[in-house]
Amino acid sequence: MKQSTLLTDIIHHGDCHDILPTLPDECVDLIVTSPPYADRRKHTYGGVAPEEYVEWFLPISAELKRVLKPEGSFILNIKERVIDGERGTYVMELVIEMRKQGWLWVEEYCWHKKNSYPGKWPNRFRDSWEHCFHFTKQKNFKMYQEAVMVPMGEWAEKRLKKLTKNDIVRDESRSQSGFGKRVANWIGREKVYPTNVLHLATEVSNKKHSAVFPVELPMWFIKLFTQEGDVVLDPFMGSGTTARAAEKLKRHYIGIEIKEEYVNLANAILEPQRMLLEEKAESYSGKRRKK
Ligand SMILES: C[S@@+](CC[C@H](N)C(=O)[O-])C[C@H]1O[C@@H](n2cnc3c(N)ncnc32)[C@H](O)[C@@H]1O
Repeated sequence: MKQSTLLTDIIHHGDCHDILPTLPDECVDLIVTSPPYADRRKHTYGGVAPEEYVEWFLPISAELKRVLKPEGSFILNIKERVIDGERGTYVMELVIEMRKQGWLWVEEYCWHKKNSYPGKWPNRFRDSWEHCFHFTKQKNFKMYQEAVMVPMGEWAEKRLKKLTKNDIVRDESRSQSGFGKRVANWIGREKVYPTNVLHLATEVSNKKHSAVFPVELPMWFIKLFTQEGDVVLDPFMGSGTTARAAEKLKRHYIGIEIKEEYVNLANAILEPQRMLLEEKAESYSGKRRKK
């Protein structure tokens, strides 16, 4: 049964296969999520076999497409594991099948895990990154690039001091790609647009959930793709990181989590932040009334 009114700022307890169909059409602005990776953490929250992964996920992505607003975005954080000495292909297969489902695969952001632990493997090196796929329903989607600009950095001081002839005109790409740059455009600016690589340490303080992403990860995408008051959905909410990020940034959230103990954990983590935000809002409105 679909809800006629949208309930936000709650974490539903249940399987997202069952809960998503209860949400209204086109009600969320952004979906950020990290589903269980195939065959991972079977003992903590049940893994899906790699060969069944795409079939398992497609009904979920179909529902996500239905509940997402036309100009919204979907960020899928995932990583294929190694099986018998080879990387699995189910993530690539999933991207291809989601395109067939009507999603546009706009971009792949890379989450570089700054603090991955050292190790030695016979046929590869330390795994230090994960995919964050960006899907949309249409070519024009909401994106607020200024919200994630970064400081220009030291290179600018040296680079912009000595401008060459090419730097003050538009320097067309030598590979005829159509891309060009005018370095002089950056004189006097303090901030630049970031790259598609996010350098963030993994979350190590939350010992009660085994697969938490850092709060800065959903925060970055929430700033990039939404505005205050918008609605963010995470159908695999775990310990509530996406909800925390949304709340901090004054967005609404909808969460779904299959394990009751994680729903309770997420609510317990959210409670002190909620109280702090309420206190701040009260003291702000008190100050305004005095003025
Ligand atoms: C990778 S974890 C997400 C962790 C989360 N990003 C965080 O920072 O805490 C995936 C979560 O999805 C939950 N889950 C697995 N299958 C589910 C389903 N069918 N519906 C809803 N939640 C599910 C698991 O219990 C687990 O907490």
